[in-house]
Amino acid sequence: MDTRVTVVILAAGLGTRMKSRRAKVLHQAGGKTLIEHTVDTALTLASPERVFVVVGHQADEVRIAVSSRGVRFIHQTEQKGTGHALIAGRESLEGLGGLLVVYYGDCPQIPAALLQSLVEHQSRSDAAATLVAAELDDPTGYGRVIRDKSGRVLAVVEQKAGTPEQLAIKEGNVGIYCFRAGLFWKHVGEIQPNNPAREYYLTDMVEILARAGREVDAYRAANPSLLLGINNRVELAATDRRFRERKVLALMLGGVTIEKPETVSVDDAVEIGIDTVIEPFAQILGNTKIGEGCRIGACSIIRDSELAEGVQVGAFTIIGTSRVAAGVTVGPYARLRLENDVAAGAQIGNFVELKKTQMGAGSKAMHLAYLGDSVIGEDVNVGAGTITCNFDGRAKHQTKIGKGAFVGSNSTLVAPVEIGARCAGAGQGSAGGQRRLGAQAEGKNAGESLSATHFRMAATPPPNNAGCMLPMGMLFALFGIVFAFTALTGGKGYESPDQKMMGTFVALAVVAIGAGLIAAGRAAVKAASKNQAIAAQAPGKPWLWREDWAQGFAKPDWKSEANVRGLLGLLFLLVSSPSIGAFRHPPKEQPFVLLIVLLFPLSGLFLVGQSLLIRLREAKFRSVRVTFSSLPGVLGGHFDGRVESAFLLPAGDPVNLVLSCVRSYVSTSGSHPTRWENVLWQTKQTVAPYVGGSGSYLPVDFTIPFEARPTDGSNPNDEIFWRLSAAAALPGLDFRATFRVPVFKTEASDPAITAETIDAAETARVAGSEPADAKIVAAPSAEGGAQFHFGAARNKGVAAAVTVFGMVFLGSGLFFGIAASHSFTWFLGAIPLAISGLVGLGLLAFAIWLWFGSTTIDAVNRSLRIRSRCLGFSKTRSVNAAEIEKFELYPGMQSGDHVWYDLRVHLHNGAKITAANSMEKSEAEWFVGELKKDLGI
Ligand code: UD1
Ligand code: CA
Repeated sequence: MDTRVTVVILAAGLGTRMKSRRAKVLHQAGGKTLIEHTVDTALTLASPERVFVVVGHQADEVRIAVSSRGVRFIHQTEQKGTGHALIAGRESLEGLGGLLVVYYGDCPQIPAALLQSLVEHQSRSDAAATLVAAELDDPTGYGRVIRDKSGRVLAVVEQKAGTPEQLAIKEGNVGIYCFRAGLFWKHVGEIQPNNPAREYYLTDMVEILARAGREVDAYRAANPSLLLGINNRVELAATDRRFRERKVLALMLGGVTIEKPETVSVDDAVEIGIDTVIEPFAQILGNTKIGEGCRIGACSIIRDSELAEGVQVGAFTIIGTSRVAAGVTVGPYARLRLENDVAAGAQIGNFVELKKTQMGAGSKAMHLAYLGDSVIGEDVNVGAGTITCNFDGRAKHQTKIGKGAFVGSNSTLVAPVEIGARCAGAGQGSAGGQRRLGAQAEGKNAGESLSATHFRMAATPPPNNAGCMLPMGMLFALFGIVFAFTALTGGKGYESPDQKMMGTFVALAVVAIGAGLIAAGRAAVKAASKNQAIAAQAPGKPWLWREDWAQGFAKPDWKSEANVRGLLGLLFLLVSSPSIGAFRHPPKEQPFVLLIVLLFPLSGLFLVGQSLLIRLREAKFRSVRVTFSSLPGVLGGHFDGRVESAFLLPAGDPVNLVLSCVRSYVSTSGSHPTRWENVLWQTKQTVAPYVGGSGSYLPVDFTIPFEARPTDGSNPNDEIFWRLSAAAALPGLDFRATFRVPVFKTEASDPAITAETIDAAETARVAGSEPADAKIVAAPSAEGGAQFHFGAARNKGVAAAVTVFGMVFLGSGLFFGIAASHSFTWFLGAIPLAISGLVGLGLLAFAIWLWFGSTTIDAVNRSLRIRSRCLGFSKTRSVNAAEIEKFELYPGMQSGDHVWYDLRVHLHNGAKITAANSMEKSEAEWFVGELKKDLGI
């Protein structure tokens, strides 16, 4: 007998009791549509070309739902009953012979094993058909199995057509049949729609076959609840739950830990490796594959995705159609929306959304970011708040981020944009719009060059070309070229060969100055960018911006000092080249001008000499550096470490250490940009070197007041930096080294440590003992109390320096003024004369005050009387002790690292009186101590 099985699944009806616009078999239970379930069961019994689905309602959707399985379809255009459904497929079915298994598409739980036994039963039996019957508690709605007294099956009577006696029968027709195909097709035509519903009932075949003398068997199912069709959503939910229970049970038995399995939803097709832990309320849906040893966080939803081994998914994370490689961590609260590819070891943190994004191995996006349509290389750090603007309103664009790049917080990447490998950016910037941002690491990715400063707006301002050196340089160069052209072509004033030669010479000097400025500007921009890149890599620790600091030490500034001096010297020499002309044709009326002219080449030579000396020192003392005990030096705390030198400093020779907080800025108010340095706070120590195995060491231990300003250094035109200088007078060659040191405000900063508390400690130390070199004379006042006298020329060094400066300014004003008025007009000559002359006169006036001025301060009866005198003029001020808020030592005159202090008296009404100036620190501290004592403050 032919026992090849053909399965026909009836799925053409709508299923009115579902109250749905969707055909019943398209509803889902356990993550699959009902039709998928029933087809999959059929495929355990027959090959796909022998599995038929009768479609009618929403035929196309039903076809699509199972088309991937390769089964065949019968289209029943009008639903005229279950019998009619088969008749509709007669053409395709009749020739297949063998056994014809028929069941309904709404019975997703039919066990394959039951169908198998049914087929086996029919194959062994002589009967024309076997149907599955079950004893039902409430058979309402089901066809009843009618038997004779001997138990022989006679018919199946539908609910609507049954007599009360028939409807009392508890044995119902489950709706699963196995017919001998030959007999079925022979008699199928006998089905008539003579019933209240006017339908062709498949169940009528039982009576037809029985009447034809054929036997029909009823196969009793043990567990009918699994076999019954779904008619409404309550039954659908019950079925869904049973599928999921079955799934998690199978997973747990297969080695997956599931916490509170009753809360977890896992779809049928999901595969999960052993030792993976599923936390409560997780949903793992669709065609998802999860590797071994993963953890799926509570309330996460994973759909149609592949997770390799050891993937950690935090709570409340949503992953759709994405691939996640081994060891990746995602979430909590992350969303891999669709088509993402996250490579091994990457980390996706909270509130990060990825869409169509490739995340390179080891890359991180830890907080609050949207990365859409992006290709991100390996080991990239995406800062918090980074957004790819992938949509311009019309189309989507790609963002590419190179290997090792560091994208700063709050970056807005306007696609299309490409960020080069190892490129770094600090926050609040935006980059993009057809832009490519440069490779950072020493230009390794040459092809990707473009100033990364565009990307680094904001948090730290970009260097504005280091004092306009670039535009200035270009102006100089351009002017020089035009000048040279005029001279060479014998323009007006350059007719004679001598004039031509001189003119060209001067012009070339100007071009050279321009080139020098351009080079310096470029170098400054590059250096600043590099600093910022390093700073961006350690946002919370800005002192790591310098490579040497990051390693816990500071290199001396020798090299840059030597370079600056050398370059400046050469520039002076170059500029002074026209002075050759001045000597060849000395001006007859003003021969003194020659002396001023000589200043330039001489200063040039002096600077070049200094540069060479520094180089010599560097060679002599070898690998000098300051190593920090802790990084950074802390405002309101300590700065300590030691200065090391491979050179053996003679033990016992004291070394002066000076720690200064310096404001360094470029002022362009004058004729050209000038860099100024202002010491805002300073302290000094004298230490004795000790000699270790491989060199000398100088202990460094300073206390820094809280209110001093921290290192910033983001803007080379105006920065605060801290400088430690060490100097010792060694016979033959002085030891001198300066270091930039990191000083920051951190959690360790102590607001209680202020300049005042430090000063007070110092003052207490020196109080009573008048410093040996004090220039203030203390005496009892005639009115009782104390009198302090600041004599005339009490600081001859400062007075001399100011005098020289004043004269130099006046002289150069005269020189330029005369030179300009000779070659151009008197008016042009007056400009430099006025500017330099005024500055010079001011300086000279101050010098006169220093040489000839004197101050007498009386502290009598808790009041302060300040009398200043100079060349017969005098001025007096009186202040009550009660009015005084505090004394402040203010760094005034400065020369290199030497600072002279002014004493400012702060009054409660906000006024400030400068009581004395140009004092040495120790002198000033002693003086303040004395005043406080005498005033009883
Ligand atoms: C049917 C049986 C009944 C049995 C019950 C079990 C008949 C006449 N009765 O009744 O004895 O106890 O199932 O659940 O068979 N269909 C078509 N084309 C049609 C009509 C129906 O494909 O023209 C499909 C439906 O989509 C459905 C299945 O056949 O999946 C069953 O049809 P339905 O109308 O639900 O029959 P029941 O009244 O449940
Ligand atoms: Ca039904």
